[in-house]
Amino acid sequence: MTEAVHTRRVFSGIKPSGGLTLGNYLGAIKRFVDMQSADFETIYCVVDMHAITVWQDPAALRHATRELVAAYVASGIDPEQSVLFNQSQVSAHAELGWVFNCVARVGWMNRMTQFKDKAGKNAEAVSLGLYAYPSLMAADILTYHATHVPVGEDQKQHVELTRDIAAKFNHDFKVPDFFPQPEPIIDGPATRVMNLRDGSKKMSKSGASDMERINLTDDAALIVKKFKKAKSDSEPLPDSVEGLKDRPEARNLVEIYAALDNSTPEAVIAEYAGAQWGRFKPALADLAVARLEPITNEMSRLMQDPAEIDRILAKGADKANAIAQPILDKTYDIIGFVRR
Ligand code: TYM
Repeated sequence: MTEAVHTRRVFSGIKPSGGLTLGNYLGAIKRFVDMQSADFETIYCVVDMHAITVWQDPAALRHATRELVAAYVASGIDPEQSVLFNQSQVSAHAELGWVFNCVARVGWMNRMTQFKDKAGKNAEAVSLGLYAYPSLMAADILTYHATHVPVGEDQKQHVELTRDIAAKFNHDFKVPDFFPQPEPIIDGPATRVMNLRDGSKKMSKSGASDMERINLTDDAALIVKKFKKAKSDSEPLPDSVEGLKDRPEARNLVEIYAALDNSTPEAVIAEYAGAQWGRFKPALADLAVARLEPITNEMSRLMQDPAEIDRILAKGADKANAIAQPILDKTYDIIGFVRR
């Protein structure tokens, strides 16, 4: 971390629950890398306590945690410049999460669309943690007084809830400026990467078929195959982005291309207007391989030294704790907890 005084502090996190997808990369990790700059103090977390809202095999959780660190580092997160750690090593998250369980209202939680989607018809049988999860997420952000939260579109409602929790705490305890109002940062062409077989569904690590998604561990041949088989439609690419409006699969592939190429859908359309899928899909696959292969290779190299990954996490947890603990202490004083 630099010595500069940061007025802008970024916090974001990813769950280590199974594989990482191109959606996680383009919607989150790549944007986290872009925000590492002198303008921001950046804090990136492996949110392992969120992962266990759904049962995780312990060995698989350990592996997924280290693999996510490898993905962050291989993608360009610098553990010297950013704070990079796993949530369970900094107890302030869980402690502030409990406080926020007592601030957030049940009615607010009932409006969380992601809970409704995940719980489905099974809402009585899912864990209480899955239901309370957004207040732990608020604690993740607010225990650092973070001001900017880069996320994909699907997390917007949770960041808005975080703002409501911050405002209610500040109001209830008459500390108007204690918790900041964090801004969700949802920008760029790929804030909602869709399933490759059905453009109306989000690309997710839990989707039924592996052909629906690109995993950060896929090799070049598999990436090419998945883009070749990706659903498209019978029209060539349009000559303006408006022409993608009712073509979800086409739009998704153009947005993926734009995000991988650090460009915009407009620029992609300008280059490929009128192109058939037989031309566009191989170009997209080549681009994806060029961007992802070095990351995948570096991830597997880093995974050969798990002790080094654990050292990165321990160092990051110390740095995170140094920021979080004083804010938690202040919160406890505000609440009226007697402390030693
Ligand atoms: P998670 O682990 O489901 O996803 C991590 C990040 O990846 C983004 N993402 C996508 N973006 C675009 N297209 C997709 N198909 C796609 N799939 C996933 C997500 O929007 C997210 O930014 N609750 C969070 C983790 C979290 C967190 C936080 C985030 C816990 N505490 C505090 C920010 C701040 C989650 O489950 O993300």
